[in-house]
Amino acid sequence: MGHQQTSDRKKDHIDLAFKSSIAKQDSRFYYEPLFDGHPSGDLSEISFVGKKMRAPIWISSMTGGTKEAAIINKNLARACGQFGLGMGLGSCRIILEDDEFLADFQLRKFVKDAPLYANLGIAQLEEIFDANKNALVKELINKTETDGLIIHVNPLQEWLQPEGDFFKKSPISTIKQALDLGVNIIVKEVGQGFGPDSLKELMKLPLSAIDFGAHGGTNFSMLEMHRTKEIRQEAYEKVSHWGHSAEEMVGFHNCLLEELEGQHCNADIIISGGVRDFMDGYYLTEKSYANSIYGQASAFLKYARGDYADLEEYTQLQIEGLKLAKTYLRLR
Ligand SMILES: Cc1cc2nc3c(=O)[nH]c(=O)nc-3n(C[C@H](O)[C@H](O)[C@H](O)COP(=O)(O)O)c2cc1C
Repeated sequence: MGHQQTSDRKKDHIDLAFKSSIAKQDSRFYYEPLFDGHPSGDLSEISFVGKKMRAPIWISSMTGGTKEAAIINKNLARACGQFGLGMGLGSCRIILEDDEFLADFQLRKFVKDAPLYANLGIAQLEEIFDANKNALVKELINKTETDGLIIHVNPLQEWLQPEGDFFKKSPISTIKQALDLGVNIIVKEVGQGFGPDSLKELMKLPLSAIDFGAHGGTNFSMLEMHRTKEIRQEAYEKVSHWGHSAEEMVGFHNCLLEELEGQHCNADIIISGGVRDFMDGYYLTEKSYANSIYGQASAFLKYARGDYADLEEYTQLQIEGLKLAKTYLRLR
């Protein structure tokens, strides 16, 4: 390093010192600086839903079928392929029986061999089963070249949505019916999470993974409320507070693993919903006893709407941050 560079750096230090005093500390971790050099190599490879991933990060289901979706999905899928992340497609309802928007959902060429799952809601599955159109699900998986199906469970969203669907049956019975299709199934919520009894029922099923979709991040009940009329908003505002945070759900899941010991609870876990960054992700996956990774939707969306370079930089920073956390932080 040249003298000029060193001198500039020293000047920066003096100028910035007063701005850089931080009283707040992250009380989730012990900081242990002694035991490793800086992280240099890659993160260790992970087996998840029967596939290999190069970082423990899942891009949660978002979009498809609107004008902006093509670019968003292509960017997200490229990041998955480049960094070895998993991804859920946004709801594929729009391409079930009509291929107009199929291209938005054909992402395998970008994702390469990382996990990629199609996505349908409970209401659409109910309709499919009622109409004896079960073959549509396998067709969907074939035409999107996905590894299986994510079923989103969203009773509150449907209830609060002005044009929402009505569930005639219990979601658990629809999920069990879907398991008879012989495809890999992941079940998720969309921002409220699952309470312990629901989680326990899911854990007893032969699912590929359970995705928390917990409370504390993007909240679809709240989002739908903004789209409804004022009297409805006032009546149901507090419904958007229902649910469980990702941290609370890790606690439920760990207890249930102990309770259900020996009952083949083999589903992998995607800890998602309000996971803001690599530190949240590291904290929650370290806390979990399961084979778990973490999922994020809105955090990726923020950088996926424009140039791929923005998303690439964001993703790279998150992965580098995760390596740093793994090197120097231990759970308290
Ligand atoms: C724009 C947007 C669209 C979404 N669409 C879907 C969807 O089609 N299917 C689904 O299962 N979840 C959908 N979700 C929910 C996310 O997959 C995720 O569960 C939720 O946003 C919580 O994650 P976050 O707090 O990291 O955003 C969507 C989320 C966002 C932000």
